[in-house]
Amino acid sequence: MEYRVTVMPGDGIGREIVEGAVKVIKKIEEKYNHKFNINYADIGGIAIDNHGTPLPEETIEMCKNSDGIILGAVGGPKWDSLKGEDRPERGLLNIRKELGLYTNLRPAIVYEPLKNASPLKPEIIGEGLDICIVRELTGGIYFGEKGVKEDGTAYDVLSYNEEEVKRIAVKGFETAMKRGKKLTSVDKSNVLESSRLWRRVVIEVSKDYPEVELNHMYVDNAAMQLLINPTQFDVILTMNMFGDILSDEASMITGSIGMLPSASIGEKYGLYEPIHGSAPDIAGQDIANPIATILSAAMMFKHSMGLPEEGTAIEKAVEKVLNDGIRTRDIHTDSTKLVGTEEMVSLIVKN
Ligand code: NAI
Ligand code: MG
Repeated sequence: MEYRVTVMPGDGIGREIVEGAVKVIKKIEEKYNHKFNINYADIGGIAIDNHGTPLPEETIEMCKNSDGIILGAVGGPKWDSLKGEDRPERGLLNIRKELGLYTNLRPAIVYEPLKNASPLKPEIIGEGLDICIVRELTGGIYFGEKGVKEDGTAYDVLSYNEEEVKRIAVKGFETAMKRGKKLTSVDKSNVLESSRLWRRVVIEVSKDYPEVELNHMYVDNAAMQLLINPTQFDVILTMNMFGDILSDEASMITGSIGMLPSASIGEKYGLYEPIHGSAPDIAGQDIANPIATILSAAMMFKHSMGLPEEGTAIEKAVEKVLNDGIRTRDIHTDSTKLVGTEEMVSLIVKN
């Protein structure tokens, strides 16, 4: 089969890590006899430099003409003095909205050979940790009415309608069906009206998924439970802002920001990116960990292209390299072998 892939390296370490994912995609092409037509597009700071806007029209067009999108990261000190709509990060928020990417999937996995990288005690991690956070991405307080009143009062409105909650709840239950069939819906329904709607709709949707065990948790408790008993979770379903915070917390439990992929999915399109930023402090030095971006490509094969075997092949290759004790600097310890970005990529490609 033939597929179109849009690749947006963005800024900082973006170019290096995305190049790693492209090499892996080309290996899959060769091994499984597919054809991937890869097109590059600008987003973020580089787009500001080249086109005067963080999200050029031609980038949107190219994304809309693709079967899968890979993104590196955006932003950096060079653009830090810019405001609001002119900032690199706006490119990212706007492409999510533009493509209707209302579901954000963020797995947080503690890989067996990296167990001691977690800041949590081994007995809390137990047999290992494998959580998937399903976060609503295009609604809620980040997209609500906002402003500053005459008296200086600043406000941001948090609202959800039934349809918005329903479609993300369906994604949550579908995700749970493919995993451990357990879903924790996180809200703040003891205080917020929008959360009461959230909980009511989630319960309604749950009737279509009788096999999935559903429980509800207030967000403050969920933040605590992630630290004291994280292995109780399989899928966590939550709204935009709570998901932003909890997914960062969950990713840090794994101890390695350079390892974790993410998927942002809508009805038609899928965008895949590492959870970390552009890491300007290490850009251009061949030390960035490319694994998060490579695993994002694996998610693309699974979720946007219907190629689960190809996705799993990538995950297996990453596990093999980790089991062989190969490490980039961020996950390196005394007893492992330190390699640079490019060598890590070559070893994953080889495996
Ligand atoms: P960051 O995630 O870029 O870096 C945090 C720390 O983790 C740094 O010490 C960095 O060197 C390290 N790190 C990140 N990715 C790594 C990798 N693959 N391998 C090894 N080490 C890695 O977050 P920071 O420093 O807060 O932000 C830097 C820039 O990135 C800012 O402009 C920020 O706005 C932007 N950003 C962009 C995101 C995106 O494009 N999705 C997400 C988060 C931040
Ligand atoms: Mg965040």
